[in-house]
Amino acid sequence: MKKDVSPEKLYDSVFLLQPSRPILCTTKNEDGSDHVAPFSWINPASYKPPRVALALQNSPKKQHSLENIERTGEFVVNIPSLDIAEKLVECSYKTKSGENKFERSEFKRLSSRKVQPPGVQECKAHLECKLLSKMPAGDHTILIADIVHACFDDEAYGFDMLIRLDKFTPAIHLKNYYLEDSQVHVFLSPGGAHVTEVQYKKTNNDSNNG
Ligand SMILES: Cc1cc2nc3c(=O)[nH]c(=O)nc-3n(C[C@H](O)[C@H](O)[C@H](O)COP(=O)(O)O)c2cc1C
Repeated sequence: MKKDVSPEKLYDSVFLLQPSRPILCTTKNEDGSDHVAPFSWINPASYKPPRVALALQNSPKKQHSLENIERTGEFVVNIPSLDIAEKLVECSYKTKSGENKFERSEFKRLSSRKVQPPGVQECKAHLECKLLSKMPAGDHTILIADIVHACFDDEAYGFDMLIRLDKFTPAIHLKNYYLEDSQVHVFLSPGGAHVTEVQYKKTNNDSNNG
């Protein structure tokens, strides 16, 4: 039996597309410092030439990463493994005023070849991207970008770029729940589910579920 999604809850139907594979997106801030944040709504958009499509929220609040990409035209897509799931979630939390998200994450930098933002060394693959076009899509903006350089960890992927599941467990995201002082995130893991509760970082204004 098929169950209808009620018209007033139709926005929730996007969750029928879960699970998703969140990536860590690195960008350059206006002052030249590095920025990192996780995003799940990413897809291949073209094979030849290689392109990706990334959907970033523009309303009610515009993602800082979106502002950085619109200004610089560049970003790096970093593909994480399950073992950095907690840090990935933390990168979605707001920073204290004056605090830098990349520094807070304590991720190591991987120099990029064709764009200014560095990659995240702890991730297993990296797509250096240059913005081609953008399109408003509602409360998210779709960014279409050329992949201008890519590299991967040859232990995590075979020569044909097939993921080696015995060496690399990708972060596959199912669901999150908002609690007062934390978020609970459910990821898929080989044994079933990996459930993690990530406490909010205390910020100056204590409004930190950004
Ligand atoms: C697993 C996960 C996936 C997310 N996917 C998206 C996404 O696809 N698009 C989006 O706009 N925000 C997404 N977010 C929320 C952003 O990471 C969050 O709003 C973050 O604060 C944005 O950072 P920025 O403003 O520093 O760019 C996701 C968060 C998590 C934890």
